[in-house]
Amino acid sequence: MVAPGFIFVLVLPLILPADTSADVRFRFASYINNYMVLQKEPAGAVIWGYGIFGATVTVTLCQDKETIMEKVTSVKAHSNSWMVVLDPMKPGGPYEVMAQQTFGRTNFTLRVHDVLFGDVWLCSGQSNMQMTVSQIFNATRELSNTAAYQSVRIFSVSLTEAEQELEDLAKVDLQWSKPTSENLGHGVFKYMSAVCWLFGRNLYDTLHYPIGLISSSWGGTPIEAWSSGRSLKTCGVPTRGFTRSDSVTGPNKNSVLWNAMIHPLHNMTLKGMIWYQGESNINVNRDLYNCTFPALIEDWRQAFHRGSQGQTERFFPFGFVQLSSYLSATSDDKFPQIRWHQTADFGYVPNVRMPNTFMAVAMDLCDRTSPYGSIHPRDKQTVAYRLHLGARAVAYGEKLIFQGPLPEKMELLADRGLLNLTYSQQIQVKKQDKIFEISCCSDRQCKWLPAPMGPFSAQTLALNVSSCRGTPAAVRYAWTTWPCEYKRCPLYHPSSTLPAPPFIAFMTDQIPGDLSKLAE
Ligand SMILES: *[C@@H]1O[C@H](CO)[C@@H](O)[C@H](O)[C@H]1NC(C)=O
Ligand SMILES: *[C@@H]1O[C@H](CO)[C@@H](O)[C@H](O)[C@H]1NC(C)=O
Ligand SMILES: *[C@@H]1O[C@H](CO)[C@@H](O)[C@H](O)[C@H]1NC(C)=O
Ligand SMILES: *[C@@H]1O[C@H](CO)[C@@H](O)[C@H](O)[C@H]1NC(C)=O
Ligand SMILES: *[C@@H]1O[C@H](CO)[C@@H](O)[C@H](O)[C@H]1NC(C)=O
Ligand SMILES: *[C@@H]1O[C@H](CO)[C@@H](O)[C@H](O)[C@H]1NC(C)=O
Repeated sequence: MVAPGFIFVLVLPLILPADTSADVRFRFASYINNYMVLQKEPAGAVIWGYGIFGATVTVTLCQDKETIMEKVTSVKAHSNSWMVVLDPMKPGGPYEVMAQQTFGRTNFTLRVHDVLFGDVWLCSGQSNMQMTVSQIFNATRELSNTAAYQSVRIFSVSLTEAEQELEDLAKVDLQWSKPTSENLGHGVFKYMSAVCWLFGRNLYDTLHYPIGLISSSWGGTPIEAWSSGRSLKTCGVPTRGFTRSDSVTGPNKNSVLWNAMIHPLHNMTLKGMIWYQGESNINVNRDLYNCTFPALIEDWRQAFHRGSQGQTERFFPFGFVQLSSYLSATSDDKFPQIRWHQTADFGYVPNVRMPNTFMAVAMDLCDRTSPYGSIHPRDKQTVAYRLHLGARAVAYGEKLIFQGPLPEKMELLADRGLLNLTYSQQIQVKKQDKIFEISCCSDRQCKWLPAPMGPFSAQTLALNVSSCRGTPAAVRYAWTTWPCEYKRCPLYHPSSTLPAPPFIAFMTDQIPGDLSKLAE
């Protein structure tokens, strides 16, 4: 038995050199698979994979055995990769995508079926993005209606880290799938993100065409782990990793998640992204978050635009959730500072530093008794609803209200002891004495004092600042970790029920929160 085996091993490479290596090495990128959603028009979807250097690759899009289009390319040297950009396609499907590699006289064909065209959204962040549908309120009901959403397809990236930028995903937790109660309700902080799913479901209800959702998030991770070296440098983030100061999980080293969980997706054509992160930065480079967050958005935009050969929009829509609240052992203003920094210190988005972004305010969605800790509020439905309003306005150009009211003018009526705020929108007011505060200064000492809510009208609110014997220097709203009880903040926009976001404004600005920049 030894002799024939020996001969076989010797002969095999001589007889079948091209065929075997072709079979082994010719493949699609790991996220190109059955049931996937490819980005629809006006962009062209990118299809790529690996093959033998020099081989010709023909990508064919078919529907009912009929060829819709064919693209030919060749496998590049060094990377052994190939890539084609499909012509823009109308939403719909299903289609089959075929890729055939021809090398000399040999050829090999790959196929993926049940492919749809629609909008592809990437969802990233830490545990509040990672929380699954089985962990949220009304989970049983939310898991029971997947039948109506078979054109919303889901994909989940495995938790992996890398020291270098990876070209392809090292591991996938959930390959492209039709949603089921099992793959959506798979355990705790595993597989599919509830916020991502509910956001996609809301979009589908509005758009009525396929939606692809990619979940790539990891609990307890700081923004530095998701940032490339370029953006960290922009913000002067220390290049050394840091050690954990609280009981967070997940990797915290600079760039390791960008490298392994985001960069491998950058050649894909996308519609946009949503992000829910920031809790892990309350004790890590907190004061830099007003730089690291806008820098991450800009860097991801550049990378995905370039990677997709310009098919993913340069300033693609980017939505995020402003931090909710939690029961903190200490009272400090770390949470409000991150909330403020999430808007690049404007108080609202989009703004000049964060163009084409949208935000879901969540400080009123607290959850005292969450079994996952109050840091993980279970009302993800309202989060996703508010996010989808932002997407409809910013990403889809609908004229609708997607931001809560912010003051655009303030006037100190010193003789009456009032500070009169004029809001950008109508306000629905439930008076509360402590949620507004005024910084009162005398002898170069400033102190925050409560500024009770006084007379109000449809769009104005006067604060009682008569307790300030010195000079009022600044005013702030909802500047605490836990500003109000569930859906009971004092200020909402009446018809949209969107909460007024927190803000801080200095009297010298004349206008709160740099709202002057709104006009730009
Ligand atoms: C691919 O190979 C098969 C045989 O393995 C052959 O029948 C077919 O014609 C080839 N196709 C191309 C395009 O070379
Ligand atoms: C960011 O916030 C810090 C303090 O929280 C402030 O000193 C700094 O000027 C801000 N930077 C930018 C770019 O807004
Ligand atoms: C992905 O995009 C980058 C940046 O444009 C490029 O260098 C790389 O070759 C692309 N990958 C493939 C497989 O074409
Ligand atoms: C859960 O279901 C109840 C009953 O239909 C509803 O009132 C409540 O708003 C739902 N909660 C969330 C967070 O959607
Ligand atoms: C606040 O300003 C508005 C608009 O200038 C005005 O209509 C309103 O009466 C003022 N409120 C008070 C209490 O003076
Ligand atoms: C402001 O508050 C003070 C005491 O807290 C009260 O005497 C005064 O009447 C209030 N002013 C207004 C305009 O409500």
